[in-house]
Amino acid sequence: MLGNHYLEMNRAGWDLRAKTHFESKFYDVEGFLSGHTSLREIELAELGNPAGKRMLHLQCHFGLDTLSWVRQGAICTGVDISPVAIQKARELAGRALLDADFICSDVYDFRRGSSAPYDIVFTSYGALCWLPDLSEWAEVVAANLSVGGTFYIVEFHPIHDLLSGYSYFTQAAPDVEEEGTYTENGADAVAKLATWAHPLSSVINALIEVGIQIQRVNEFAYSPYNCFEGMVEREPGRYYLSHLGQDIPIVYSLTGTKLD
Ligand SMILES: C[S@@+](CC[C@H](N)C(=O)[O-])C[C@H]1O[C@@H](n2cnc3c(N)ncnc32)[C@H](O)[C@@H]1O
Repeated sequence: MLGNHYLEMNRAGWDLRAKTHFESKFYDVEGFLSGHTSLREIELAELGNPAGKRMLHLQCHFGLDTLSWVRQGAICTGVDISPVAIQKARELAGRALLDADFICSDVYDFRRGSSAPYDIVFTSYGALCWLPDLSEWAEVVAANLSVGGTFYIVEFHPIHDLLSGYSYFTQAAPDVEEEGTYTENGADAVAKLATWAHPLSSVINALIEVGIQIQRVNEFAYSPYNCFEGMVEREPGRYYLSHLGQDIPIVYSLTGTKLD
């Protein structure tokens, strides 16, 4: 889909980030290998028990969350555009003695169709800003889901971008910036990356248009990741951000079901 220089720019940037993230304390690969889950309270509570379900994890990065779902009994396929991320995901699966299918693909090109539908399509924290077009993305979600299957997303709230001085509404041209990454060793991975803003209404409407019935939308005043400047951990693992003295919604989640 992104058959242009932004695809190459983002792929190269994420290759660099995947290597740096794999070595970071932020992602804590050693903790995962010793048995900790990388999944957070929101998705664990909301997605429920995936045991025995076929799950597609879109934009799986180097597979920590994918493999954490495997530990919960899901049969997982992870898809990511970065060859380095996919290679690291396969390495991690081997080291953890876990089984998952990791496929290197642009999300827009990944369509298994009716021959291999999934019971669950999952995507999370920091995924949508890399996608220029949510209508095509929603088509990929629907094309990969079985009828009655569940789509679940937990994502950073776009209001944070607005309050940081970026557009809330989608612009034709992406925002292109050269910067380090968000992990504590992030200065090692300075790259130029292109992002696109997506208001919450665009996410919801794109899914409705492809026949996903929205079951639930939630907004959270805390993030399970301490990844934005000024966050305060008021309860263990819950990071809050205030604006003019009030908590902002920092994460949202959406659960939907594919209709006939
Ligand atoms: C912030 S990470 C997502 C992390 C996620 N919370 C997880 O499960 O670990 C964003 C991921 O999106 C991937 N990505 C970006 N653009 C993509 C595209 N067009 N197709 C597939 N993956 C893409 C990147 O390579 C990166 O691994």
